[in-house]
Amino acid sequence: MRRKLAAGNWKMNGLRAALAELEALSQTHPEPDVDILVCPPATLISSAAQTVENANISIGGQDCHAELSGAHTGDISAAMLVDAGASAVILGHSERREDHEESSEMVRAKGRTAQGAGLAAVICLGESLAQREAANTLDIIAGQLAASLPDNSTAENLVIAYEPIWAIGTGMIPNMAQIGEVHDFIRTRLERRFGAGVGRGVRILYGGSVNPGNAAEIFAVPNVDGALVGGASLKAEDFSPIIKALE
Ligand code: G3P
Repeated sequence: MRRKLAAGNWKMNGLRAALAELEALSQTHPEPDVDILVCPPATLISSAAQTVENANISIGGQDCHAELSGAHTGDISAAMLVDAGASAVILGHSERREDHEESSEMVRAKGRTAQGAGLAAVICLGESLAQREAANTLDIIAGQLAASLPDNSTAENLVIAYEPIWAIGTGMIPNMAQIGEVHDFIRTRLERRFGAGVGRGVRILYGGSVNPGNAAEIFAVPNVDGALVGGASLKAEDFSPIIKALE
């Protein structure tokens, strides 16, 4: 039985005042029936981890380097994330694949290092609008899955986030049949690659314009084990109803 996961990706948003949102979230969900993960910008990870120290909320990073230390100005390692209090890291988000030309192979290398350091890797996949319109979605997902996932992943240290690029921050979402088709496809591929035990245990999140109004419908789709939420995770008053829809 997979435990549901509500994950928030704050992206490049959030100054120290935003920690009040975490405080509010922890008060609204003292004993959540689902896992809650919030990934603030790197500058806030340490203070966010302190803020939720006595709460049932985990903190994650939004990226890490494939090496654990060294001459990489501006980068952050998985060991640093762990040291700051993170238990997970988002990898291969389409914004990083695009802005920083990250390949699936780079994502896999980062994932291997992150898992080795004790983090769960939340690996993002998704097609562009042109790829969907050309009916290439499942081929794209298959390729990203094959190349982005570390080989020795477990149900505990791997989470998949299916985020159609065209749905991110646009207010557009695929219909429920389309979401179901991709999530079922990912599940089948995970079982084939990692065996039934691990393949059935890995959580598959949907991401892209999830909000309090559409969350319940999305969460009713089989093989949707939660969400990776961007804009609607920034305020506790928006994220909280999404968490409740998952419970
Ligand atoms: O990683 C989450 C994200 O890309 C979705 O963003 O703002 O559409 O919920 P948003």
